[in-house]
Amino acid sequence: MEARTLYEIIGEKKLHELVDQFYQNVSKHPDLRPIFPDDLTETARKQKQFLTQFLGGPPLYTQEHGHPMLRRRHLPFPITPKRAKAWLDCMARAMDAVHLEGEVRDEFFSRLAFTAQHMINTPEHAG
Ligand code: HEM
Repeated sequence: MEARTLYEIIGEKKLHELVDQFYQNVSKHPDLRPIFPDDLTETARKQKQFLTQFLGGPPLYTQEHGHPMLRRRHLPFPITPKRAKAWLDCMARAMDAVHLEGEVRDEFFSRLAFTAQHMINTPEHAG
């Protein structure tokens, strides 16, 4: 039997709801709001593309933007340990809101936590 990808299990609709909810949380977070653009429409569109491929779906992000090089694309923004935690908190609350639960949620979240850790590029006191 072929294993289904997390993308197939979660589905496009729920993934998009998750990303929209996530950026609503980001836009209200005091530690994150200052480093994000005021209009998050394009950011959310790219994140939907990225997470689709991150979860094993079609490579939508790469098709339009090339190799993700996520750490490099984040270098212009001071990402402190506190901001990485804030990002993950916004994601956990978005997962609650769209009722993403169980093993699928745990697996997805732990992959995001690993990636978020990798994005940290600024020590706490400098942020
Ligand atoms: C873009 C912050 C973690 C995926 C961005 C942008 C900011 C940001 C400020 C630019 C938004 C824009 O100009 O439109 C952060 C912070 C993180 C974090 C504070 C905390 C660790 C992550 C993680 C992922 C991710 C874990 C993926 C799992 C992306 C993608 C983009 C992006 C795909 C769009 C890149 C592009 O411009 O093509 N992020 N990010 N980020 N972030 Fe993050």
